Amino acid sequence: MSRFIVSGGNKLCGSAEVQGSKNSALPLMAAAVLVDGESVLFNCPDLSDVNASLRILRYLGCDARRESDTVIINSKCVCRGDIPDGLMREMRSSIVFLGAILSRCKRAVMTFPGGCELGPRPIDLHLKALKMLGANVTERHGVIECTAENGLTGAKIALSFPSVGATENIILAAVKAEGTTTITNAAREPEIVDLCEFLNKAGACIYGAGEGVIVIDGVKSLSGAEHTIIPDRIVAATLISAAAATGSDMEIEGIIQSHLSSIIPVFEESGCKIKCDCGFMRIKAPERLKAMPLIRTMPYPGFPTDAQAPVMASAAVAKGASVFVENIFENRYKHVGELIRLGADIKVENKVAVVNGVKSLYAADVQAQDLRGAAGLIVAALAAEGTTEISGIEYLERGYENFEVLLSSLGADVKKI
Ligand code: UD1
Repeated sequence: MSRFIVSGGNKLCGSAEVQGSKNSALPLMAAAVLVDGESVLFNCPDLSDVNASLRILRYLGCDARRESDTVIINSKCVCRGDIPDGLMREMRSSIVFLGAILSRCKRAVMTFPGGCELGPRPIDLHLKALKMLGANVTERHGVIECTAENGLTGAKIALSFPSVGATENIILAAVKAEGTTTITNAAREPEIVDLCEFLNKAGACIYGAGEGVIVIDGVKSLSGAEHTIIPDRIVAATLISAAAATGSDMEIEGIIQSHLSSIIPVFEESGCKIKCDCGFMRIKAPERLKAMPLIRTMPYPGFPTDAQAPVMASAAVAKGASVFVENIFENRYKHVGELIRLGADIKVENKVAVVNGVKSLYAADVQAQDLRGAAGLIVAALAAEGTTEISGIEYLERGYENFEVLLSSLGADVKKI
């Protein structure tokens, strides 16, 4: 169990490069199961969730290895279509392998991802869609078995909610299905676009990624392809939050500005000067932020639920009251109790959190309980007076690569023990 020791109060300066996106890397690695040949993924972050995906791929029979920041996967020898419970539990989003394995092996068996730190994580939309593509789905004793002995067939699928994972699973199942699949109310996240770009490079025929309607013309086979994973917009949002909370003037490299279109205006309205040019962002924060405009988490292009905790940590030291409404997950305010330990003034009622900014936070021992909550606690600790100890850093390591090294390079006083 590792912990971070953060001595707050330092201003951040210099430039930080944003890692590749975790939420792109995971479905891309699942997509490699469908490819006859080698999938080469550049800019792949070194994270515990990515390592769990590598272990799943090897269990399935793939040759999967990392060379520096590149992951190379050869799926020629896939020999099984099940994922053992131990591997499923290592990473909740392993459910994204379901569509790919079903398409490749005509049978996929895995345990339910179950509830998690964000509340219940149902997969009804995934399973309903796979049934529409012709899969026979049984759920017994916590085990899901999907079979499609005669292969999958294209269908018209209307999602009742634009679920990211369900959209990915449908794309992965449909890309080599017989005929055309249409997904309406599809998720529009940049990670969906990244997945489709990789698949199209490998020979898929997918149209409309990034829009509400995605059309997939099934192809017979996919060949090897190379792809550079997009930068992680949530890590970028975390760095912006850290700069804003500490009144810093710093640069962030390797961003895609359009992916941050719901984040940047929040910080501009709070008094930050932000300039973006050719993948660079310069953020100059005021000594003290103003209160934030109403933040409602929504599917993309709305404000991302994953950025809620780090942005809330910077609102905790703003002048005035900021209001957050969490619309995506039921249980995504676990960081609030820990922020209060650091001196924040936050009231939560159901989906709504009212953050009355305080002049300064103070150090305390706090415990991270989920990935983005951990990032929020680090942002708060950077702004707090004194030395904060944050435990539960294994959550952070699911999504942030060597974050203590990155923050230290910006002048923060952060140690991992
Ligand atoms: C993905 C991201 C996660 C992000 C989330 C929302 C990955 C690995 N994870 O998670 O970081 O927070 O998108 O942007 O990319 N739902 C159902 N039934 C389903 C599927 C989802 O009711 O079958 C509900 C969920 O309970 C949740 C909401 O839909 O309330 C959003 O879930 P979804 O978009 O599927 O998120 P994930 O793909 O799990």
